[in-house]
Amino acid sequence: MALRNIRVEDDPILRKTSRKVEKFDQRLEMLIDDMFDTMYDAGGVGLAAVQVGVLKQVIVIDTGEEGERLVLINPEIIAEEGEQLTPEGCLSIPGKVGTVKRPQKVTIRALDREGNVYEKTGEDLLAKAFCHEIDHLSGVLYIDKTISAPEEVTEENEE
Ligand code: NI
Repeated sequence: MALRNIRVEDDPILRKTSRKVEKFDQRLEMLIDDMFDTMYDAGGVGLAAVQVGVLKQVIVIDTGEEGERLVLINPEIIAEEGEQLTPEGCLSIPGKVGTVKRPQKVTIRALDREGNVYEKTGEDLLAKAFCHEIDHLSGVLYIDKTISAPEEVTEENEE
């Protein structure tokens, strides 16, 4: 198990754009494994590579539901519908939550860790995770989109 440092707050790398992955090599495998370890250790649902200081379009997600442990490489959103207004947090902005409007249902197209194309539709938490993590790849943070200023985490609003 290898944990990587999560970049936080105003670390400028969080605002940078991630590049597409072109090589599916051992380095990428290691990055993905470390990202899962780091995400689980921090108690998160999703993590983008930029959050561990790597500007590559790599995302790991695990909502805890069956079939929702995912690796998204070079992902794009290809369909979305509906709307949800729910609290959101980010491992790079510790101790805060804010309400964000997201689609209720989102379909992405991405490559898996072997480089195979797949599509996946997620609703509710998974839809939110898709949007939140894909935003990270272009340097966008959820705090850019909250409907009011993010608040300190309390026992009531902790996810
Ligand atoms: Ni985040």
